[in-house]
Amino acid sequence: MTASETRPLTATRQFPPGFLWGAATAAYQIEGAAAEDGRTPSIWDTFSHTPGKVFAGHTGDVAVDHYHRFRDDVRLMKELGLSAYRFSVSWSRVQPTGRGPAVQKGLDFYRALVDELLGAGIRPVLTLYHWDLPQELEDAGGWPERSTAERFGEYAAIVGGALGDRVERWTTLNEPWCSAFLGYASGNHAPGRTDPVAALRAAHHLNLGHGLAVQALRAALPPRAEVGVSLNLHQVRPLTDAPEDLEAARRIDAVGNRVWLGPMLDGAYPEDLAADTARLTDWSFVQPADTATAHQPLDYVGINYYTPTVVSAAARGESGGGSDGGHGGGDFSPWAGAEDVVFHQPPGERTAMGWSVDASGLYDLLTRMARDYPELPLLITENGAAFDDEVAPDGTVHDPERIAYLHSHLDAVHRAVGSGVDVRGYFLWSLLDNFEWAYGYAKRFGAVHVDYDTLARTPKASARWYADLARTGVLPELPGA
Ligand code: FCB
Repeated sequence: MTASETRPLTATRQFPPGFLWGAATAAYQIEGAAAEDGRTPSIWDTFSHTPGKVFAGHTGDVAVDHYHRFRDDVRLMKELGLSAYRFSVSWSRVQPTGRGPAVQKGLDFYRALVDELLGAGIRPVLTLYHWDLPQELEDAGGWPERSTAERFGEYAAIVGGALGDRVERWTTLNEPWCSAFLGYASGNHAPGRTDPVAALRAAHHLNLGHGLAVQALRAALPPRAEVGVSLNLHQVRPLTDAPEDLEAARRIDAVGNRVWLGPMLDGAYPEDLAADTARLTDWSFVQPADTATAHQPLDYVGINYYTPTVVSAAARGESGGGSDGGHGGGDFSPWAGAEDVVFHQPPGERTAMGWSVDASGLYDLLTRMARDYPELPLLITENGAAFDDEVAPDGTVHDPERIAYLHSHLDAVHRAVGSGVDVRGYFLWSLLDNFEWAYGYAKRFGAVHVDYDTLARTPKASARWYADLARTGVLPELPGA
């Protein structure tokens, strides 16, 4: 289906037939069972167990115990009328050392989950890598080393071989920007290294690993399978029209967006990125055939969007930094290639993450992608918001801010579809409250509330609202609007 074949939309904000209504999660954020059935530590186990790295020393040891409760969680998804569910596979559960043969019990868990989903009429969308590198591979050098990309291709072949008969949609990497730059440059995420050159090397090996994984999946999967990647593209906006702020926006577009779009979709790194980072590296770690390997035909690109990225040039003598406004928030500096750039949070409404609420960024991102890659279908693989939700005395969770956030962003998606952008589905982040990386359990993104003492699940008002939307495919007026 091409964009021009999508049906005309009515004024009632009807989404196209077959549009996927999903929710997303990630293995380390929900599974728990960290040391069960042969699973070994990933970099997030090590990082979260390192004092001072994660809020209040929280870890994913138990998380929301999805490993043991997945059948109940799938029942909940069915009650919410979801037509799709995006989850990730824990690499160290399936291949504990990151190399060699698979552990059958690890594969069995995901096969049981997928069968439960299919039985409930919910389409699985499987992400191979959502940030949880096996610790042994980090000990061998991690993503800055080429061998990690090669191991990732082998792991993709294992999972593709085991689940290819029942999973139709595959995603190689989730937000490689976070893996490279928060993991290896700012150090806010695992493995917590602060080496800008390592971050650029990691970025390249993530691109290469993506390409090797797509090749491995194509070899293992039936032809009907769809393969893509999820990127947290930055909707970069200059603070002013001054030339130095426009230049700051160009730099962040290069090292935030085109560092992935170039190799994966165009087959080459952008020239300005090499110039911007020449002080750090000559990129000689890129071997001649690598960008061709990274450049594999894709069936879709997944867009993860939360908030726009507003930047200016650092004033003379001021160092770059501030919050990136994307994942991680907090102290951003140093970001390889972004040293002279300052990140701003625009005034106005914010979520509990401090991220500004601005759905126009999503519209702009979708229309940019459709302009630059008109043949490429898009999925919104993550969008959502954290608020300080509480269970009311009557046992319900009222989260009108989340409903308003989802409403405005889905309205932006609907407008983009109306402008001819080929968006095939939307995955709310997240199904459940969960381990929010460096923020531990302090930030609640779920449509379903989790009581961390009892692990009881309580759908929030937003979950009911979203269920109606999934059932009707029509975005209603905002309650009270
Ligand atoms: C994204 C991550 C996801 C979650 C949301 C809030 O960057 O992919 O795991 O943490 O942010």
